[in-house]
Amino acid sequence: MTTYDLAIIHGDGIGPEVNREAVKALNAAASRFGFGLQTTEYPLGAQAYLETGTLIDPGTMDSLRAHNAIMFGAMGDPRVTPGILERGLILRMRRELRQQVNLRPVRLYPGVPTPIKDLDPGRCDFVVVRENTEGMYVGGGSTVHAGTRNAVALQESINTAQAISDVVDYAFRLARARRGKLTLCHKKNVLVHAGELWQSIVNEHAAQYDDVEVDYVHADAMCQHMPMNPERFDVIVTDNLFGDIISDLGATIQGGLGVAASANLNLDGTAPSMFEPVHGSAPDIAGKGWANPAAAVLSAALCLASLGEGKAALALENAAASVLGELPALAGAGMGATTEQIGDRIAERITDETGISSQIEETSIMTAMAAI
Ligand code: NAI
Ligand code: MG
Repeated sequence: MTTYDLAIIHGDGIGPEVNREAVKALNAAASRFGFGLQTTEYPLGAQAYLETGTLIDPGTMDSLRAHNAIMFGAMGDPRVTPGILERGLILRMRRELRQQVNLRPVRLYPGVPTPIKDLDPGRCDFVVVRENTEGMYVGGGSTVHAGTRNAVALQESINTAQAISDVVDYAFRLARARRGKLTLCHKKNVLVHAGELWQSIVNEHAAQYDDVEVDYVHADAMCQHMPMNPERFDVIVTDNLFGDIISDLGATIQGGLGVAASANLNLDGTAPSMFEPVHGSAPDIAGKGWANPAAAVLSAALCLASLGEGKAALALENAAASVLGELPALAGAGMGATTEQIGDRIAERITDETGISSQIEETSIMTAMAAI
């Protein structure tokens, strides 16, 4: 029997509440699909930082590195200056563990309310593959004459052929395993240097993946097409900044933060990938049982898919989707059940083979991810 060794980082606020339900779903899948799970909890986050003054020590980073995958809740606490945990822990883990791709599926499940009028769920099923370590987010730049009318701020964007090529190659492989369409999203008419590099690397890969149809959409136009014509997209590949923006739009289209899942993928096998809901620690509802755990469970499904457990991943997705479709509201007291009760309901529905809706199975990101 294969046993997967997972690191569990619950984090702060609703992070522990939803991540516990994700681990519950993983355990249910393990017993039903015949694999083992071994988990180690790492108490990282605001509480540990406030107590010790340390975000993460080098030994802990090395321990994390040894696991097969990391399940992460969320971080952020009103008592900690914004940015300290985000840059010092979350972005640092993504960088040091070489998690080059941030993957966010945008799928509207049947019965889930969307703000887009009359959007049929069948029309909305695509994936954003975002470069996760470069672009505007490397933090390079400088400020001179700060605080005066002569202040000048330079914010650099780093774009390396190697990182773009790794991410683009992953996106092409994913597109080939899905519906065979890849769309580059950039702003190459204005950001000519970075845009040309991205486009030329996509063109090189297009020659090798001649079964994949290639398209290009500017980032601003993307914000119109995604809500109005989501069926146009299968795999969207984009840089760090545009990916951050358009994937939040994607989360809104698919029903919001209670649904949106993500994966930070290490592509070269040198370190584990990390799976987390898109939402943060939601201090406004922490401790109330009002957090929807579905986004965390769907992130756990991505974890199983990346470990090659496609069937189990699909079962998690199916269970989460069917419970989501029944909830009267996606967040807060209106959900009609607590975080834990929803987690229990999802775990009970994780079954092998029987009960997996064929509609979800056919085009699921889980199947494609597990296959590549
Ligand atoms: P947030 O995502 O935590 O919350 C935004 C709103 O959505 C809140 O009203 C919250 O109650 C609601 N919400 C979020 N997740 C929900 C869920 N699963 N079920 C029901 N409702 C949910 O974003 P916010 O408030 O801007 O940030 C709070 C903290 O989280 C900050 O410290 C921020 O830096 C941090 N953060 C951390 C992230 C991470 O750990 N990767 C990502 C985003 C924010
Ligand atoms: Mg964001």
